[in-house]
Amino acid sequence: TKQMVKDALNRPLRDLRISVIDRCNFRCQYCMPAELFGPDFAFLPKSELLTYEEIERLARIFVHLGVEKIRLTGGEPLLRKELPLLVKKLSSIEELKDIALTTNGVLLPKYAQELKDAGLKRVNISLDSLNDELFGQINGRNVGTQPVLDGIKAAKKAGLGVKINMVVKKGLNDTEIIPMAQFCKDHGLQLRFIEYMDVGSTNGWKMDEVVTKKEIFQQLNEHFSLEPVDPDYYGEVAKRYRYVDNQVEVGFITSVSESFCSSCTRSRLSANGQIFTCLFNGNGHDIRDFMRTGASDEAISERIIKFWNGRTDRYSDERTAEMAANRKKIEMSYIGG
Ligand code: GTP
Ligand code: 5AD
Ligand code: SF4
Ligand code: SF4
Repeated sequence: TKQMVKDALNRPLRDLRISVIDRCNFRCQYCMPAELFGPDFAFLPKSELLTYEEIERLARIFVHLGVEKIRLTGGEPLLRKELPLLVKKLSSIEELKDIALTTNGVLLPKYAQELKDAGLKRVNISLDSLNDELFGQINGRNVGTQPVLDGIKAAKKAGLGVKINMVVKKGLNDTEIIPMAQFCKDHGLQLRFIEYMDVGSTNGWKMDEVVTKKEIFQQLNEHFSLEPVDPDYYGEVAKRYRYVDNQVEVGFITSVSESFCSSCTRSRLSANGQIFTCLFNGNGHDIRDFMRTGASDEAISERIIKFWNGRTDRYSDERTAEMAANRKKIEMSYIGG
């Protein structure tokens, strides 16, 4: 039987985002700038990572506490060896409604079918531009768009649900808004425009580099006719619309201009077994060492309840320039967004 665990602001625990690795084969400027994540960067050694058995154990406990949706993230989650094995373990958990993956897509031609066979339902693939040169510059590795497009194709072919994530940064890829919208519309792909966020402390975020939903919507309105779509469930992150002529959906993730903390039901588990209660709260709670020193399922469960009960985070509601500059924040590549 499931428990209903609430935080200090009465928000239930419904989602678990699990980062499986802190490494990535890209160096996106807004996430892991190459100058700072160079050849000498100290990524987590293997012994620090939770094993698949440990992740499954924790996931089962979280599901008992009310989690319905699990998302695997990174870094780039497909860099973790034999990720389909983990998906298989997680999909054996009854009462779990949704298992999804957030990826840059490059390794999907290799893994999409295996992931689907293991029980994965859907993937969110990041693509910030259709222009090879610009995309190569943004991903910091000079990778063109073709490997990602091949990944999208492979995911569709395997029968996975596919959404496309585009982070929009002013002066960088705001010229790509319409081309991306047109492309996704024509290919029946749901595109989500993501407002550039002040995550981590390495991307040098400035408020005036954010392109808000309002600005993006204005551009779309000049080219397409859109109507709003009701949310699918309580606390859904993206605000969705559909193109009137072909019913394909498009979404906005407005963490800067219209925050959604009041319905935030997300907990995050880092690759090395720390629980975070907000993308912007750098104080993690250890669960790995507690588990490794022999804690029972009950004790682990109680500990998670305690962390969740004490949760007061609502960073995006409270964000000010001063906070954005001074807070101890988690790197996106470490916690997976
Ligand atoms: P769906 O289940 O498909 O709706 O996925 P999602 O949008 O929840 O997850 P995804 O990994 O695709 O993330 C898309 C963007 O939303 C990323 O930029 C995330 O960092 C951001 N995001 C997801 N959850 C939160 C959150 O709780 N707070 C904030 N501020 N941003 C979030
Ligand atoms: N702001 C908004 N979204 C970001 N992502 C990475 N860094 C940022 C940022 N600074 C996105 C990635 C991916 C998702 C998990 O988070 O592009 O789609
Ligand atoms: Fe890698 Fe995704 Fe970060 Fe880009 S945004 S560096 S693909 S983890
Ligand atoms: Fe949730 Fe923190 Fe994001 Fe607000 S800023 S929606 S509390 S993760």
